[in-house]
Amino acid sequence: MADAIGTLLIFGASGDLTNRLLLPALGQLLSSSEGPHTLTVVGSGTEQWDDDTWRERVRAAFASVDATGPRVDAVLAGTRYAAADVTDADDLRRLLALCDGPPAIYFALPPAVTARSCAALRDLDLPEGTSLVLEKPFGTDERSAHALNDLLTAVVPESRIHRVDHFLAKTTVLNILGLRFANRIFEPLWSADHIERVDIVFDEPLALEDRARYYDGAGALVDMIQSHLLQVMAVVAMDPPLSIDARDLRDRKEEVMRSTRIWGGDPVKASRRARYTAGTIDGRDLPAYVDEPGVDPARDTETLAEITLEIDSWRWPGVPFRLRSGKALADKRKEIIISFKPVPRRIPGLYGTAVPAQLVISLGPEKISLDINVNGPDEPFELDREHLVAEFNAGRLPAYGEVLDAVFRGDPTLSVRGDTAEECWRIVDPVLAAWKAGDVPIDEYAAGSTGPDTWNDPSVGVPVTTTAPATPGS
Ligand code: BG6
Repeated sequence: MADAIGTLLIFGASGDLTNRLLLPALGQLLSSSEGPHTLTVVGSGTEQWDDDTWRERVRAAFASVDATGPRVDAVLAGTRYAAADVTDADDLRRLLALCDGPPAIYFALPPAVTARSCAALRDLDLPEGTSLVLEKPFGTDERSAHALNDLLTAVVPESRIHRVDHFLAKTTVLNILGLRFANRIFEPLWSADHIERVDIVFDEPLALEDRARYYDGAGALVDMIQSHLLQVMAVVAMDPPLSIDARDLRDRKEEVMRSTRIWGGDPVKASRRARYTAGTIDGRDLPAYVDEPGVDPARDTETLAEITLEIDSWRWPGVPFRLRSGKALADKRKEIIISFKPVPRRIPGLYGTAVPAQLVISLGPEKISLDINVNGPDEPFELDREHLVAEFNAGRLPAYGEVLDAVFRGDPTLSVRGDTAEECWRIVDPVLAAWKAGDVPIDEYAAGSTGPDTWNDPSVGVPVTTTAPATPGS
């Protein structure tokens, strides 16, 4: 069977995203047993490079992940580069003429340039089977995302648009499907009847990493929550899909998004934001965020964000979904925490502390754990906490490799559908507006700490109703 895509045409080939993520992932895919049999890679950027300069860059990126093998060699031998203005119709024609077979056009570009380039592509005769691959952020609010969708679907059909969210390709996120839908033991408990709250946390020790140009305009809310964590939430909260194909899976995720809103309809009470000050992480001194090169303090960009959401559906009434992500934090906490409700009644005679059961799905390292109460071994009726852990092998490919593999196969299952991309903005737009209006103060935390001191107080923020039942005899 012929490969769906013949050429990977990269716009923004001389940029950071291509070098840091795209090319290494391509190398990993080509040196695995997955991916296309034949592929041409054409790079285009504003730098006036020749083919050899570009080839060396691709070679170095492949070498950084030890990518080897006949497909790696073939791509290196055949790759080409053309300096171009990708918002210009003549330049675009020139680039398309360099492609062999249907191209996947990868926009490794700022969103505004991507939109201008798509507008220019709309007026061209594109090769049959052309796909468009876009990085986040997809628009800047619900309205602009809608306009971008209109533009994209005037260029190619929705099924050939890949709005990349590499979290959907993470092994542990995909594992949620098996965990939930291939076992009978979790799904009957997976609702407001038994679940008290869900926390999706992605705290990183990584700080700005020279990405001020992008990050200072985005902030933690847009960089992580509006995109990745909402997608993860959709997989955690969705109803069982009819199948794992693109339509069925994305229909179910869309239902979750459509029923999601800010907790209590109050973006001021249900959101928090903070920014790091100078500190130390792993012995490394970090300047305050506002002193990082390229940061404009007047923008008030947050490096830690938290929102609490409700899903207005039959399954989830009254269950808070708290999404939090931040940078320059002490702990690498990347996990989904499902907190179950307390038992309806503690049996008199069992004593000790019974904290309700928790299922933790870790997004890195790949593992799940279940914390439960048991009794024994010393005092037979005293409760003990047991921590059951299952570690998973890393997936066959890193997340970006899976993303590319799906693009080359023409399978949009792991990408965000247009309507869902708009819903994600609808959910966070009220928070962005409240923050812009200054209605939510920006707190501070030292780089290398666990966040602002006040945030560690569980009585602050959206109330959680969990109260363990009285403990007879203790
Ligand atoms: C990216 C964000 O999309 O995801 C980064 O822009 C973040 O800020 C990264 O660090 C986290 O994903 P991963 O897979 O690298 O852990």
